[in-house]
Amino acid sequence: MLQWLRQRFQRRPLTEPALHHPEPPEQQSHGSAAPQAAEPDPIAALMPFQIRPLDSSDMADLLGVFREAIQISAADDYDQQQRDAWSQAQSHDSLISVLSEGDTVVAEWDDKLVGFAHRIRDYINMVFVHPDASRVGIATLLYQHLEDGARIDGITELTTHASLTAHDFFAYMGFISEGQEQAERDGVPLTRHLMRKSLV
Ligand SMILES: CC(C)(COP(=O)(O)OP(=O)(O)OC[C@H]1O[C@@H](n2cnc3c(N)ncnc32)[C@H](O)[C@@H]1OP(=O)(O)O)[C@@H](O)C(=O)NCCC(=O)NCCS
Repeated sequence: MLQWLRQRFQRRPLTEPALHHPEPPEQQSHGSAAPQAAEPDPIAALMPFQIRPLDSSDMADLLGVFREAIQISAADDYDQQQRDAWSQAQSHDSLISVLSEGDTVVAEWDDKLVGFAHRIRDYINMVFVHPDASRVGIATLLYQHLEDGARIDGITELTTHASLTAHDFFAYMGFISEGQEQAERDGVPLTRHLMRKSLV
């Protein structure tokens, strides 16, 4: 994952000056050089956001991220009626109930909660990133934590129902679409993809 972060930050630097630093020579690949003993990684220390487990005090912020992500980030793929039905499908209490089972990780940036992701066994149930924090790799990091946990649990295949908005993200993560299907929220139809990824 850290290799991915280095590539990403070199390709798309954020505002922090440290992210513009070239890769230190000692971090560059030297073919047959023996692996170094594990040391604190400077790139990890400079990450502007952190991924951590869910805390009970996060719930109100989570609901805000969920609703904003749908209303803004999904606006090109779903009309207003669909976004309203989808974003109102979870309440504070139902989100607590859903997230009480399985594995949830959240992303914090400048002490603000900007994303979360949830896995139940072999199913990636939710990945939501606030639109203000989109396309800097937060969903990728959240997902990688869930996939790492699934591998530790011995899971050999992950499934998800990806929104039209999230299809390309999941494809980027290695999922393959098995086709579109219709879900329904409050009587409103929502097209989504059934997608799978083998972990073996
Ligand atoms: C889908 C979503 C989680 C992606 O979050 P993100 O943090 O912006 O994603 P990342 O920055 O990790 O994206 C990694 C890669 O995925 C792909 N990707 C992500 N969002 C994309 C989009 N809207 N269009 C095309 N490709 C996209 C790109 O390849 C991207 O790499 P790049 O930025 O170098 O091109 C976020 O847009 C979101 O919350 N959407 C609305 C809610 C939703 O649909 N959630 C999923 C429910 S199933």
